[in-house]
Amino acid sequence: MDKELKITTGTKAEKYDALVPQIKALVYSVDDQIANMANIAAALKSTFDFFWVGFYRKIDDQLILGPFQGPVACTHIQKGKGVCGTAWEKEKTIIVENVDEFPGHIACNALSKSEIVLPIYKNDVFVGVLDVDSDAINDFDEIDQKYLEQIISFL
Ligand code: SME
Repeated sequence: MDKELKITTGTKAEKYDALVPQIKALVYSVDDQIANMANIAAALKSTFDFFWVGFYRKIDDQLILGPFQGPVACTHIQKGKGVCGTAWEKEKTIIVENVDEFPGHIACNALSKSEIVLPIYKNDVFVGVLDVDSDAINDFDEIDQKYLEQIISFL
């Protein structure tokens, strides 16, 4: 595909419906996980204007900041810490309606109010997380979960 993203208007699901095949095409032609994470972060940011969207990669026994779009962020997260470390430990997607009510939330930026974190597996081995943050409370639901899980399966 050409490298221009076509952004659709409409509902959240309609935007994801248009975005997912474009991300698939973008990622399948490239055999480099960091390049693909970078383009996924850019595509999500430009489609939804999320406050922060990016990846943390598991390196040794912790999560290290990877490709992202948005304000500067924390660089190291331990297993079980914050939303990202909890998604890793519990091996499941976590949606946080209000980060102030999540015990141990790591506040990289005070403007972040809600988030979704999805663990990523490659050949059944945990390799990192996708973390998407919003500056609005309760901005994520099962629609985001469904489509973001499809998107990370392309990695
Ligand atoms: N929200 C995360 C920390 C990373 S930043 O939001 C970019 C957490 O509590 O795991």
